[in-house]
Amino acid sequence: MRITIFGASGLLGKALISEWRDDQITGLSSRDADLRDLQQVAKTVERTNPDWIVLAAAFTDVDGCETNRDLAFSVNRDGAVNVARAAKQHNSKLLFLSTDYVFDGTKTSPYAVDDPRSPESVYGRSKAEAEALLEEILPGCCIVRTSWLFGVGGKCFPDTILKLASTRTDIDVVNDQRGSPTYAIDLAHAVIQLCRKAASGIVHVTNRGECTWFEFAQAIVNAAEAKTVIHPTTTEKFPRPAQRPKYSVLSPTSLVLYGINMPSWQDALRRYLVERNFLARLMPGRHDISK
Ligand SMILES: NC(=O)c1ccc[n+]([C@@H]2O[C@H](COP(=O)([O-])OP(=O)(O)OC[C@H]3O[C@@H](n4cnc5c(N)ncnc54)[C@H](OP(=O)(O)O)[C@@H]3O)[C@@H](O)[C@H]2O)c1
Repeated sequence: MRITIFGASGLLGKALISEWRDDQITGLSSRDADLRDLQQVAKTVERTNPDWIVLAAAFTDVDGCETNRDLAFSVNRDGAVNVARAAKQHNSKLLFLSTDYVFDGTKTSPYAVDDPRSPESVYGRSKAEAEALLEEILPGCCIVRTSWLFGVGGKCFPDTILKLASTRTDIDVVNDQRGSPTYAIDLAHAVIQLCRKAASGIVHVTNRGECTWFEFAQAIVNAAEAKTVIHPTTTEKFPRPAQRPKYSVLSPTSLVLYGINMPSWQDALRRYLVERNFLARLMPGRHDISK
């Protein structure tokens, strides 16, 4: 198959490029094609002639979206619509990456794919509106919702905790937001399989299991054998511009229907640390291994 990946320079995009074998891949960053420019997007799709388009590009700074509302909607919603139009015109299949933040977090059991969207943040709204428009423009498209992404290809929570742990004896982390961490490599494998299985509709893809950010941070320092003590705190004591869902665990049922099972987040974390250490040894002295 010919695959065109928008967002190939991002955390997931880099994992897709490193893991995708046996197909013909074109990876694009914003410098190759800006999602906001329909002509650029259409020309790129025509030139690369894809069977599948994977749309992993987005404005992902959740707090930044609150203060840059226009940019959030022009990239995440209108940009996605541009890609969907080009896909339709070119008869390409589309897999769009979306987020657990399309939910408000008031549930206490895992969100199903058909639970109503109820985003609280600008980022969540921009993605929720994109989902709804894509379903209209391209009813056969595949929408993959994921959450709490981490990996060596960009800024992520485990990397932040490990950097803090190298200089601090104590770190406060919120213990009242619960979700599922997802390793970019595992998500990439699922995305590749979903394309090969010609998936359509909404699919939830996260690592198995759930935790709070505090529990995740504790597991990170324990696995790295750091001495830093992690203390539980609350969202109220640690306010951020964007409201996050208190609970955003996504049900794996939709993914299991495709015969795909994700490893647990604890297993994924162990593999991430091995990958991070390996890269750190390859590039000694380089603090930020994500670039
Ligand atoms: N990170 C998470 O925790 C998380 C959670 C749930 C869902 N997701 C979703 O998963 C997907 C992948 O996330 P990620 O963390 O891998 O993203 P990321 O690391 O922030 O990378 C974003 C990518 O989007 C590209 N991009 C940004 N603006 C663009 C524009 N106007 N035109 C074209 N490309 C543009 C960037 O290109 P440049 O490098 O050229 O700027 C980069 O390749 C996104 O759709 C995101 O919303 C992420």
